[in-house]
Amino acid sequence: MAKRTAKLILTEPDTVIDLPVYGGSLGHDVIDVRALVSKGVFTYDPGFMSTAACESAITFIDGAQGVLMHRGYPIEQLAAQSNYVELCYLLLFGELPTPEAYRQFEARIRNHTMVHGQIANFFQGFRRDAHPMAILCGVVGGLAAFYHDHLDTADSEDRLISAIRLVAKMPTIAAMSYKYALGQPFRQPRNDLSYAENFLHMMFSTPCEPYEVNPVFAKALDRILMLHADHEQNASTSTVRLAGSTGANPFACISAGIAALWGPAHGGANEAVLDMLEQIGDDSEANIQRFIDKAKDRNDPFRLMGFGHRVYSSFDPRARVMKETCDQVLAELGNPDDPTLRIAKRVEQIALEDDYFIQRKLYPNVDFYSGIILRAMGIPTNMFTVIFAVARTIGWISHWNEMIDGDLKIGRPRQLYVGPPRRNYPD
Ligand code: CMC
Repeated sequence: MAKRTAKLILTEPDTVIDLPVYGGSLGHDVIDVRALVSKGVFTYDPGFMSTAACESAITFIDGAQGVLMHRGYPIEQLAAQSNYVELCYLLLFGELPTPEAYRQFEARIRNHTMVHGQIANFFQGFRRDAHPMAILCGVVGGLAAFYHDHLDTADSEDRLISAIRLVAKMPTIAAMSYKYALGQPFRQPRNDLSYAENFLHMMFSTPCEPYEVNPVFAKALDRILMLHADHEQNASTSTVRLAGSTGANPFACISAGIAALWGPAHGGANEAVLDMLEQIGDDSEANIQRFIDKAKDRNDPFRLMGFGHRVYSSFDPRARVMKETCDQVLAELGNPDDPTLRIAKRVEQIALEDDYFIQRKLYPNVDFYSGIILRAMGIPTNMFTVIFAVARTIGWISHWNEMIDGDLKIGRPRQLYVGPPRRNYPD
């Protein structure tokens, strides 16, 4: 229902077009421009800076106030009081589970953690030094070849089964890609462990000796998963929606999301942050200032990785929680004065006092600290984006599901054509 009307005035010939304006439960109003096509014009918005591509009830972000809420619950409260599996339920179904619903949901996830035995054969086709994100894109897309018994996207129960399979199997595949690079045997999931504990077990245990999961690490990993679980219509989620709008199967859609996440401007940023901190090397004032100056130089493509965000023009609320978790993990390791963390804190401090960053409202984002935590837990840098992908799978699948349940239309943007007009092929 339109709450007001926008008037678009076109000249030559003079035309007035009335466009309905809708209001959501929170956030900006939107102008419904769908009628424009029948008036012979399109809207033009590269990068979708001003375009709402869908209606969604999953996640709300107020970038100016630094607010992130899932189904109405602030991320800080969820991070402090909930856990990743419960958040998966909330994102997928819209409400927090009752204790019984939680028990059943968690049991379903636990019972789908194993992958088909033949999936292990896929790995042999990859070079040992393959980037694990390359493996993840391929293997997750390949899951459709194994689980085609429930791929009817019009059937909500089939969609739920695929969602559970994806959430359950992502840590298994991620850990397999790590073990493959190391040349160590794959570890089977253990159903007596929690989601995060099981992930750490599959990554770090070997058949040769007992492995005990460090509870501080399990808690930190669970938090990292929660903080990355969903972030409304970001590049990878929009990719999943666009792929899904064609009726493609969920495994193919999530694989498309993984590919989009891989870029350094999106999920690859935490890997890039650590590379940058290592390049900086020491926390001397002059050295850090040199990198800050490089980031400010418009003729230099270098950017301060882990800073800035398309939607947050104030602090990224996830970064606060991440910073606190980072301190906890380093304290557990008896290394609260980690040199990389020292450099990170100094970079943050100098940047936050610098006019360039202040004027552009560039603050640390979620990835600024997550890399330091993951590295402290023994997770290699090239696995960082993989962990992000594991976490984001529930966000992707919840949006995919919401889209199919709603007014599904194939996503098909228009363009402003600037190529040559019609011309004839030379005789
Ligand atoms: N370092 C230096 N300058 C920056 C940075 C940065 N990290 N980010 C933005 N700017 C400048 C940019 O050069 C531009 O300056 P000017 O107005 O003089 O041309 C201004 O700030 C606005 O930047 P923009 O490129 O228009 O902003 P955007 O919304 O298109 O980009 C971003 C957002 C995240 C891609 C960008 O801030 C960036 O590249 N950050 C570093 C990479 C990073 O940390 N990415 C992780 C994002 S959070 C994880 C996720 O949710 O996926």
